[in-house]
Amino acid sequence: MSGEYIIKADNIRKYFGGVKALDGVNLDIRKGEIHCLAGENGCGKSTIINIISGFYTPDTGTIEIDGKTYDRMTPQLAIANGIQVIYQDLSLFPNLTVRENLALNMEVAAGRKIVSKKRMQQIAEAAVAKLGLDIDLDETVENLTFGTRQMIAISRALLNDAKLIIMDEPTTAITKREVKTLFKLIKQLQSQGIAILFVSHKLDEVFEIAERFTIFRNGKNVATGSTKELDQDKFTYYMTGREIVTHRFEYTQKDAPTVLEVRNLSLANGFKDISFALKKGEIVGITGLLGSGRTELAETLFGYHTADSGEIFIEGKKAEIHSIKDGIRNGIGYLPSDRVTEGLFLSQPISDNISIERWNDYANALGAIDRNKIDEMSHHWVKELSIAAHDINNNVGTLSGGNQQKCVLAKWLALDLKILILNGPTVGVDIGAKFDIYELVKKLAQQGLTVIIISDDLPEVLTNCNRVMVMQSGRLAATLSTQGLEENRLAELAN
Ligand SMILES: Nc1ncnc2c1ncn2[C@@H]1O[C@H](COP(=O)(O)OP(=O)(O)OP(=O)(O)O)[C@@H](O)[C@H]1O
Ligand SMILES: [Mg+2]
Repeated sequence: MSGEYIIKADNIRKYFGGVKALDGVNLDIRKGEIHCLAGENGCGKSTIINIISGFYTPDTGTIEIDGKTYDRMTPQLAIANGIQVIYQDLSLFPNLTVRENLALNMEVAAGRKIVSKKRMQQIAEAAVAKLGLDIDLDETVENLTFGTRQMIAISRALLNDAKLIIMDEPTTAITKREVKTLFKLIKQLQSQGIAILFVSHKLDEVFEIAERFTIFRNGKNVATGSTKELDQDKFTYYMTGREIVTHRFEYTQKDAPTVLEVRNLSLANGFKDISFALKKGEIVGITGLLGSGRTELAETLFGYHTADSGEIFIEGKKAEIHSIKDGIRNGIGYLPSDRVTEGLFLSQPISDNISIERWNDYANALGAIDRNKIDEMSHHWVKELSIAAHDINNNVGTLSGGNQQKCVLAKWLALDLKILILNGPTVGVDIGAKFDIYELVKKLAQQGLTVIIISDDLPEVLTNCNRVMVMQSGRLAATLSTQGLEENRLAELAN
């Protein structure tokens, strides 16, 4: 029987200090299959990947590869067995060329002291040829889109005779079009006999690409089987352990005052002649392709950029917004799309990250900060957003990706804002957390917060916003009420 499997991880336990990340899980992957690993943020997906690939040592359990049983892997052993991981950061050198990124590892691994240009060219050509990619080998990696970089990382993995390629949430940072390309590529790899372990929270992706699935919850197995036997309700229930019922946001404060008004706002290379007005308590979506100017618009409202022309009014008064400080002073908060680099100090405690924008309020005349207040407030938000933190004094970097995202959100919610702009607030966030975040946003809107949600996820926009603005090439192409609006119609406008 074992001949059927490329890898069988059995009864794996892993603790980090007092934190139980994996509590005796199994993960079996058959040769040449596309297998999806799913589960809420913090359930242990990245941990099992690190164990299979030899970066972490399990506390108990065994790993069987090709009929041989090991107590632990090492990175070398995993690679020798054809196991390759594509991490979320892709582990490429941005300032080197495509050729160098593809070939240098091989040269180093071969223990060569002198790097031959000719050999590098051969390795790089062989790498892209395996996938039939059309990429300029002389291009510097930092000039490429994330999707293209991902292709390069996969090509590099193939150089080592991969039998199993593990992708940790590969679709989080790429556009819909790039997801399509990636899925074609995954199918192509499968046709070459390579198995894929694919980590995703997204049900549509799991259905589209995977034959089998495994779902973890709190470091334990919940279900494994064929995706044919899975449907939306089961998937959600396996993931969260609860029934989730979403309902459309209804805006009831029709005669509320205008909070934000934008008149003829323009920014060179960003957007042109944008005008709109938002009322207190509205949740308004902005959608449109990458390059539509939607992020630049949000960043300008918050003060990252100063508009070239046009005016912004907050509660009827003209606002001068030329810096982030101005944005915050005007009661505007902004959750950026790139949560890790822009939103958090990873090596600082959870409590400090959540409270940092409020420190001035909690300092006495001498500048000493009231720690009790900070802890109290951090506890409040950790609870409100169900952030899976064992201790608010742990560094944010120890939290799973989705929980880090919730911390950025908590930081803004802790300020008394008038307007909150969320750019892709649930990218990389699991179903349960997504639900929690939107329930909270709707609750805050009902209490009078005006919210702008920038998102590609049209069902998400339709469910949670009362209006939606569509941007195209820097222009506001349409503003629509979401009431009775069909997804197809919105998709036509947004593409
Ligand atoms: N190096 C570490 N030190 C301490 N705790 C850790 C470490 N790595 C993971 N954990 C904890 O182990 C648990 C599992 O984390 P893991 O990163 O495997 O989750 P995940 O399923 O990949 O989540 P996500 O979907 O958010 O990426 C979490 O509670 C996390 O906080
Ligand atoms: Mg993870």
